[in-house]
Amino acid sequence: LQEKQPYRTSFHFQPPENWLNGMNRPMWYKGVYHLFYQYNPYGALFGDIMIWAHSVSHDLINWIHLNHALCPTEPYDINSCWSGSATILPGKGPVILYTGIDSNHRQVQNMAVPKNLSDPLPEEWTKFPQNPIMTPPDGVEGNNFRDPTTAWLSPDGKWSVIIGSWSNNQGMAILYRSEDFVNWTKYQDPLYSTERTGMWECPDFYPVSVNSTNGADTSVLGAGFKHVMKASFNSHDYYLIGTYAPGMQKYIPDNDFTSTSKDLRYDYGKFYASKTFFDIDKNRRILWGWVNESDSIEDDTDKGWSGLQSFPRHIWLDRSGKQLVQWPIEEINKLHGKKVGFLHKKLDSGSVFEVQGITASQVDVEVVFELPELQEAEFLNPTGVDPQLLCTDANASVKGKFGPFGLLALATKDLTEHTAIFFRIFKGLKGYVILMCSDQSRSTLRDEVDKTTYGAFVDIDPRREKISLRSLIDHSIIESFGGEGKACITSRVYPKLAVHEEAHLVIFNNGTLSVTISSLNAWSMNKAQIKHKENFIGKA
Ligand code: FRU
Repeated sequence: LQEKQPYRTSFHFQPPENWLNGMNRPMWYKGVYHLFYQYNPYGALFGDIMIWAHSVSHDLINWIHLNHALCPTEPYDINSCWSGSATILPGKGPVILYTGIDSNHRQVQNMAVPKNLSDPLPEEWTKFPQNPIMTPPDGVEGNNFRDPTTAWLSPDGKWSVIIGSWSNNQGMAILYRSEDFVNWTKYQDPLYSTERTGMWECPDFYPVSVNSTNGADTSVLGAGFKHVMKASFNSHDYYLIGTYAPGMQKYIPDNDFTSTSKDLRYDYGKFYASKTFFDIDKNRRILWGWVNESDSIEDDTDKGWSGLQSFPRHIWLDRSGKQLVQWPIEEINKLHGKKVGFLHKKLDSGSVFEVQGITASQVDVEVVFELPELQEAEFLNPTGVDPQLLCTDANASVKGKFGPFGLLALATKDLTEHTAIFFRIFKGLKGYVILMCSDQSRSTLRDEVDKTTYGAFVDIDPRREKISLRSLIDHSIIESFGGEGKACITSRVYPKLAVHEEAHLVIFNNGTLSVTISSLNAWSMNKAQIKHKENFIGKA
């Protein structure tokens, strides 16, 4: 099977077959992590009947697929159970809010609770008889009203929740409030709205600590916290950092979206419809997102599946307060197999060498670079420059002074196939500019694949900080974290030849100046256990 399925992953979450898309909010409940996700049980492409699939885990690494949590059965969700979120009501247990596509193809919000509250592993969910609990309000079209967030408790004792929307040429988070979690009233104004986005899908709203990497429950407020507002539109997950003013029912971002490449994104590659949850057990907030295929529809259908979840990421506010930082959760260590590593190696201009002794098709690698003669860097005025365009115009084969240097992942021995994840370092107007690229242009000899190149600026100062790159390479996905998680780029790649034992991991420096690797560590990754429970019922 592996021979025929070289693109299935070893440590990224995916069901055995069929289509997976956006995340329905994960949660931690009674010692178990629950993952709900959008799933088409009937095929490898997005479907007319989407359901909530459900998997559980003790460690966010190994998963068991339970029976589906929500399938279309009633007039208020007969045409699909779309995204939503779980909220754990103190002393009462979890409640799911989700979007149903009703018999008139309108998007409405529904509620479901565990059938048996004493079940530590709520597998069966009962839909609330009075559904729908919210219908599209005046001025909002029936196809622009979806994806409720986790609700939070406000200081006035009421619950608040937001629904993604588009109305009056504005993307927005429509606010609903409730005293009892059953009767919801729309608040007069959205919690936030802006002309600079499309329709908001899968909004997310949560506090982040200003001075620690700890997470906080969604209802937490106070001087030590800022609030993040995330929305999915134009194929990307964008976020704002700002202040939540519950008295005014307003979100006040430090800066609005700009509709330019300056807008902050969780990931500058392929990553969409993500959600976070507060992991009360480990006091951290965890993010994961949907990473769709970049292959043709014919190939998706042939291989019988589409879509992965990213590796779970710990997420927190950077010390600067200006952006978020993400890092693979520490549980990844459980999958670390054989390790190779070295210190202090000079990479002369033009050098290429292989990291040997690991399984390069499934590997966790971290490399830290030092630049001895930084002042030699070329000049770049970054104002108004789109980093993705810079990476596209000057791919890994174009020589600079400092850079391109970095990794060639999933490479054939002769390097005809490879995905290059690399840096270029420039002298900017004030300080230095660090460009990080993920160049898929030579990732496969196959033609029918989307090989778009991705790029981002990494906000670090190489005079004080080392330039680091960590990549999680897993057969057809590469998640890269630059500057210890300050810029993330995820790509999907489909090598024709660089599969299994034919895959190599190579370090390269194609700049004219030499750079030094201060350290490199790489671990072969073991395979996560992801399987069905006994007596799994696979159909909706
Ligand atoms: C996000 C999304 C959501 C919707 C769901 C349908 O990708 O389009 O807005 O609820 O997927 O599966």
